[in-house]
Amino acid sequence: MITSVKEILVKARKEGYAVGAFNTVNLETTRAIVEAAHELKAPVIIQITEKTMEYGGGRGMFHLVKNDAEFYAPEIPLGIHLDHGKSFELIERCSEIGFSSVMYDGSRKEYVDNLMMTKKIVDFCHSRNIDVQGELGSVPYLGEFEMKDEDWDQYMTDPDQAQDFVKQTEIDTLAVAIGNAHGFFKERSEPDYDRLEKISKKVSIPLILHGASDWEAERVRQVVKRGISCFNVDTATRIAFINSLTKQIKSQAGGASFDVRKLLGQSRDAVKEVVKQKIISFGSEGKA
Ligand code: G3H
Ligand code: 13P
Ligand code: ZN
Repeated sequence: MITSVKEILVKARKEGYAVGAFNTVNLETTRAIVEAAHELKAPVIIQITEKTMEYGGGRGMFHLVKNDAEFYAPEIPLGIHLDHGKSFELIERCSEIGFSSVMYDGSRKEYVDNLMMTKKIVDFCHSRNIDVQGELGSVPYLGEFEMKDEDWDQYMTDPDQAQDFVKQTEIDTLAVAIGNAHGFFKERSEPDYDRLEKISKKVSIPLILHGASDWEAERVRQVVKRGISCFNVDTATRIAFINSLTKQIKSQAGGASFDVRKLLGQSRDAVKEVVKQKIISFGSEGKA
């Protein structure tokens, strides 16, 4: 059942587990996430980015996810969310389409500009019953920088600033930077657990960790214990999809099948396996 992201994550934070927020780009990835959540009885979030809206159409992608969720997992709390929204216009468009949860990512702006824009978006969204995720600190992308451990400080979330940001903007969830990074990137050798603990004491709304594709079980456990309620995953599912497709195509040398559904069906199943492993490691299996 389509459920508010805020509701899913407030429950997770209260009960001490985390939920997976998986990016989708197509039918196969969507179905893989929906089936994995259904089979493991796990609440889940499916995210769409601006690039995916350009690729598949905003309305088309939103309704693909909604229809799949309602038909294949009607009993599972499932939130549909805009990931990394970077402009007011995009968020307006998502509200017209029917999204009930969006991220405004002003993390690369100066603090005051991020705060003011996030607040403007919260005012717009809350009057329309839409939840908002903000980001403070900044989570780097694969290949963006060559970083040593000491370089990380400038990107990480400041606990006092986080408290002020949440209070002033009234966001519903907060994405934090504690040494995490997007993609299979050289992250800080150890996440800054103390920093997370401090943020957690000052901020009671659910905390989100982006770039969770390569987070192994022990790290996951350590940050869930300290208040993370949601992990964003994209790279790991994309790689599973592409690896499976490549393998299928290579193994067909000489006797090619032209049944695209067969090839993409295998990719869907490969993605589903990754989503299931992640759900189990986040601790949301059986929480629906
Ligand atoms: O964190 C964001 C995504 O992994 C980037 O996705 O290529 O759809 O913008 P995108
Ligand atoms: P990864 O691509 O590292 O899994 O990060 C995904 C993410 O943070 C989406 O917002
Ligand atoms: Zn992200």
